[in-house]
This record gives sequence, structure tokens and C-alpha cells, in this order.
Amino acid sequence: MSGHNVWTHKGTFLLAAVGSAVGLGNLWRFPYLAGENGGGAFILVYALTIFAVGIPILIAETMLGRTSRQSPIMGMRHLTKTHKTSRVWESIGWLGAVSAFLILSFYSVIAGWALHYTWLMLTGELVGADAQTIGDGFNALLASPGLMTLYHTLFIAASALIVAMGIHKGIESGLRIMMPALFAILIVVLIYGVINGDVGAAAGFLFTFNLGDLSLEGWLQAMGQSFFTLSLGMGAIMAYGAYMSSEASLTRTAIAVAFVDTAVAMVAGLAIFSIVFGAGLETSQGPGLMFVTLPLAFADMPFGALVGGVFFILVLGAAISSSISLIEPVAAFLVERFDMTRPQAVTIMVVAAWAMGLLTVVSFNIWAEGTIFHTLFGRSAFDFIELLTNIFMPLGGLMIALFAGWALTQSEVMKELGTNKTWFMVWRFLVRFVGPAAVSFVFLRTIPYVEGYVIPTLGALIIVGAFALSQRMRKPT
Ligand code: TRP
Repeated sequence: MSGHNVWTHKGTFLLAAVGSAVGLGNLWRFPYLAGENGGGAFILVYALTIFAVGIPILIAETMLGRTSRQSPIMGMRHLTKTHKTSRVWESIGWLGAVSAFLILSFYSVIAGWALHYTWLMLTGELVGADAQTIGDGFNALLASPGLMTLYHTLFIAASALIVAMGIHKGIESGLRIMMPALFAILIVVLIYGVINGDVGAAAGFLFTFNLGDLSLEGWLQAMGQSFFTLSLGMGAIMAYGAYMSSEASLTRTAIAVAFVDTAVAMVAGLAIFSIVFGAGLETSQGPGLMFVTLPLAFADMPFGALVGGVFFILVLGAAISSSISLIEPVAAFLVERFDMTRPQAVTIMVVAAWAMGLLTVVSFNIWAEGTIFHTLFGRSAFDFIELLTNIFMPLGGLMIALFAGWALTQSEVMKELGTNKTWFMVWRFLVRFVGPAAVSFVFLRTIPYVEGYVIPTLGALIIVGAFALSQRMRKPT
């Protein structure tokens, strides 16, 4: 599409994609999920998925954005037409929009906690506090729907403001300072952990694996997390890809994003678990992990209030650079499809996600048990929304892989990839077979009664998928 916006610099996509990828997923979610799922085994599945499935799909998703140069929904509509495939593939865009909306709803609530801790740090309220006090403080925050709603509102409003201003202002220079600063502070926290905590126990916990430790849901969570952390399968990367310079290398960019993202998660994990083991805390304390362990370290570190304050500001920065990319695909769609202004489009998305976020807020207090979600799904609304996104993201990724692998022609992919034939073949093999097989495998594993039929069902799924795509009736042009 001519006239479509493109990032100002060739490298901005990389920056924006790293900004989207690095966020609460790395600092908050990865450590607590690894902690709950026994450490090493979880990380093994997570890392394998990132490299064999995540990177190829990251390339595929960016490619779909860049070739269509439109928002995910409109872009997929366009691609299904030009490639004469079934319109079913348009659901990649819709599924993405729903996932983005769901993720934004809880993401903003959790980021709100970081806002609370920024405040506590900078006012010096936690200086010298012990584990008990800090744990009680966190529980008090969770018990207060009012406080949580306040922070949730502030965070989502700030994200909305940035997206409403457009893609060119603010984001880029902000990220350039924030990302390196975040990394530096993380290293400081890690060094603290090494000196005062138990880094040996942390490394042992994170890097020795026994696959038998991993429950079925653990598998799904590890895989879901590797999609979550790369912002995959839901249109965010496609939306940013639509603004990507045609000259930037897809492959190199995707590898760089995955590398930085994984490094941040590992450093955060090591730092947090050093403190956990050093202080004799629980590894499986769930969503509170980062918010309880790190303040403990900051509480008795020299200049801890300052370091802690800066740390949580950076958490907020990482979160906001992710949340804006959750708003972007839906907002861009509303602008393209209904001719709305950007502020109008952003308002609609954000107000809806804000309201949905209230479900997450109450999941930690007044609706912590005994709701319809507990009766129907055996979990709170927040856990249910998370589970849904854990299914939608790999599903979106699967469809993206299949579409890019089978529907795009060799010449257009070669042009986009800009690599030689060998790399093209490797990539295509990964997105045609390995990615879809891996995702299907995990889905099937989570349905206990199909266990014995995994291989045949998998084969059937792939054949059906491939057949559906081969029916695209490309007319000779
Ligand atoms: N990757 C982000 C993180 O790790 C979270 C996220 C998931 C996300 N999906 C996204 C961010 C889509 C932006 C767009 O925190």
C-alpha cells in the first residue's frame, strides 16, 4: 500500500519489536512460571520453542505485516485475496485482535502493581523491611480493588496517550535510553543476588532439568510463555512489521529480538532466584514472586530505595513499550476500516480493555473464589483469561506459520527474506512442519485422552491443513 507509514529509521522495527517483546513477560511472568513449574524442565521446553518455533514464526509474522503493509485484520484480508486462499485465514487477524484485547486487560493491572512499588521505593517506605512486612504489603495491595483499579487506570491511560500520538513521536528515543538502562539495573540486581543471595542454588534450579517434573499444563505454559514473551501470534509484530523498512533484514532482526529477549528473562530469573534461595523464600509463590523478592533485596541494599525506584520505573517502561504494541494492531484496524481518527480508535480499544481488566482486579480479592469461573473452569477469571491467551497465541502462531509457509510463493518469500536458497529452505521447513507439529503436539498433550493417538492425529492435522491451503486455486497470471 503506498502512502502507508514506515518507521523513520531502518533499525526502528528492531527497537520497537524488542520493546514489545521485553516486558512483564520477562521480568515478572517468566521467573514465576519457571518457579511454579520446577525450573529447568520448564526452561528447556521454553528455550527449544523459542529457537525452533519462535524465531521462524517471528520471521513469518513480520513478513506478513511487511508484505501487506496494513493492520493485521485488513492485511490478512488483502493477502487471502491476492493469494486466493480461503477467507478462513483472515481469522489470524481476528484471533490476534481478541488476544491483544485480553492480554492488555490483565497486563495493565499487573503493570499497575509496578506503579505501586515505584511509589513505595521512592518514598523509602520499605527501607529495612523484612520478608514478612514485604509479603504482607503485597497481600494488602492485592486485597484492595480500589487501589489496584487506580493503578490499572493510570497505566492504561498512559499507554493510550502514547499510541494516540502516533508511531513516530516519543517511542523511539524513549526506548533507546530505557532498554540499555533496564539491562544495567538488572545486572546490578544480579550482582546483589550473587553477593548476598545464593546464585549456585538459583543456577541449579534453573538449569538442571528433569522432563518428568513438567506437568501437562506446564508444557502448555512453557510454550505459551515463549509465544507471549516474543509477542507472537497475535498481530502485534505484524502491525509493527507493516511499518518496517524494506531494507532491514528479517532474519537478523528476528534472531536479535529473540536473543535480547531471552537474555533479559534469564538474567531476571537468575537474579530473582538467587534472592529467593538466599532468603529462604518459596520458589512457587506465583504472580507475587518479583514483587516480593526484589523489594526484599532493595530493602537492605545501600541506596536500595533509589536502585529499587529506578528498577520499577524501568519495569514500567518495559511494560509500557509492550502495552502500546498491544493497542496498535486493533487501533490501526479501526482507523483503516472505519476511518476513525487515531485517538478515537485508541479510546475504544482501551476503554474496553480497561473494563475487562476489572475482572483481573477482582480475581485477587472479592472474586478470588466461588465465582462462575471457578464453577465452570476451576479457576479465577484472571487465570481463565491467561489460559485463553495461552491457547490463542500458539493457535495464532500456528496459523501464521501455515499461511506463510504454504500460501506465500517462493519468489515473494525469497524477496522478503533476502537470503539464499538454503536459508529459505530451512525457514520454510521450520514453518511448514516443525512449528505446526510442535504446537499441535503441545495442544494434543494437554488433552489426556488423545495421548495414544498423538502421532496419527498430528499427521492428519497437518495433511488437512496443507490440503486446505493447496486448494487456493491460484489462477495462472
Ligand atoms: N511480550 C510481552 C512481554 O513479554 C507481552 C506480550 C505478549 C505482548 N503479547 C504481546 C506485548 C503482544 C505486545 C504485544 O511482556
